[in-house]
Amino acid sequence: MAAVSSTLGIDFGTSNSAAGYMVDGKAQLIQVEGGETTLPTALFFDNEEKRIIFGREAQEALIGGDDGRYMRALKSLLGTPLMRESRVLLGKRMDFIAIVARFLAELKTRAETSTGQSFDRVLSGRPVMFHSSDEARNAQALVDLTECYELAGFKDVRFMAEPEAAALANRAVLSQGDLGLVVDIGGGTSDFTLFRQEGDAGIHILASKGVRIGGTDFDRGLSLEHVMPQLGMGSDIKHVFGAETHTAPHAVFTELATWQKIPFLYTREQRRAAQDLATYAVEPVLLNRLVKVLEEELGHDLAFAVEAGKIAANNPNASAPPEIKLDVLERGLCIPLPAAMMAATLASMATEIAQVATALAVQADVNIPNVNKLVFVGGSSMMSVVERAMRAAFPQAEVHRGAAMTAIVDGLVLASPHAFSSARG
Ligand SMILES: Nc1ncnc2c1ncn2[C@@H]1O[C@H](COP(=O)(O)OP(=O)(O)OP(=O)(O)O)[C@@H](O)[C@H]1O
Ligand SMILES: [Mg+2]
Repeated sequence: MAAVSSTLGIDFGTSNSAAGYMVDGKAQLIQVEGGETTLPTALFFDNEEKRIIFGREAQEALIGGDDGRYMRALKSLLGTPLMRESRVLLGKRMDFIAIVARFLAELKTRAETSTGQSFDRVLSGRPVMFHSSDEARNAQALVDLTECYELAGFKDVRFMAEPEAAALANRAVLSQGDLGLVVDIGGGTSDFTLFRQEGDAGIHILASKGVRIGGTDFDRGLSLEHVMPQLGMGSDIKHVFGAETHTAPHAVFTELATWQKIPFLYTREQRRAAQDLATYAVEPVLLNRLVKVLEEELGHDLAFAVEAGKIAANNPNASAPPEIKLDVLERGLCIPLPAAMMAATLASMATEIAQVATALAVQADVNIPNVNKLVFVGGSSMMSVVERAMRAAFPQAEVHRGAAMTAIVDGLVLASPHAFSSARG
């Protein structure tokens, strides 16, 4: 019989989640959606079949136009008052604590079905900072996530900072004495851990720091600058009386560009407000698109189109010129997104990310030229705008690419046998 652990390591990500466990002293990732070891952190409440669909299937249901409510990027809501607000889904009142718990329970069940083993303890990753500068919100986010795990059926929950887990998973790429910096750029947050490789003694974590900027913020930035103006953002609305005009209010566009806010936009009031804007718009063609998005609930379709455009614009070997394809909104509507244009939109976010990394070095009393390895993990670490900013900030360091999507869960699993022997942390 293989020696297995009843502790699950879970990387609950803004965009993707993963789970694994120890088998015979080795970290093993679990297939949680068909043959895949990641499950997109997404749910679809299917009104027709009265059931909840998860992961890639949830995205397919959304794109296929099934009748229901899609949710993604829920991790970004942890710590906010919205977590405790309830709404009716499939005929039942649920708050977001229950919705996140439902996702985690599904991950647990799938892990158990896949391995034939039951898990009642979890070592979960956590970003260094759920919210950049609001300590109370940050602490509340951890309280919320703990509650979600407990509601999902875990009896004991411990946490480890995500970049520290990634450092552990990548210890083998460094040599003794190396000073490494994990650069974990995910969907919702950017996290850094400075560590020293100490040979057989393993790694020594020096310090960690994080900021709430990730791939979903890149999506938002690109959407606000390149897509929302096509829906009337910034355009003029005539006054009911007189010849004066004012600019269309920004709030609806900002929310439409923000993954985790989209499900809250489909209300009668929002639709009526958009109709009014279209009625008095100087360019009704644009505002009518906003009306259509709200009426037909196309917000997530737009967000996926932006994300796909971002990934295409980031690919130097793409065969076609990169663009954001908005056929779902209007046949043939597409917005060119050359790499240079994307870089310009995202430059300030990339700079802010790199500044957090240099601030970490200063805080840890480490000379930047002494950092000799950068270990890139997380989906958004593949963005060239991020890589460029990091290379400029740490010019002496060599860049290593870890397993972008699985390094964190790997590290969590590696740490899981020891996580429950110490005091709760
Ligand atoms: N090839 C790619 N190029 C650029 N970005 C990508 C690529 N593939 C995925 N991404 C982006 O990576 C992000 C998801 O990364 P990842 O799965 O590491 O995040 P996460 O762990 O869910 O989030 P977090 O750790 O912040 O909670 C998404 O924003 C996605 O658009
Ligand atoms: Mg992550």
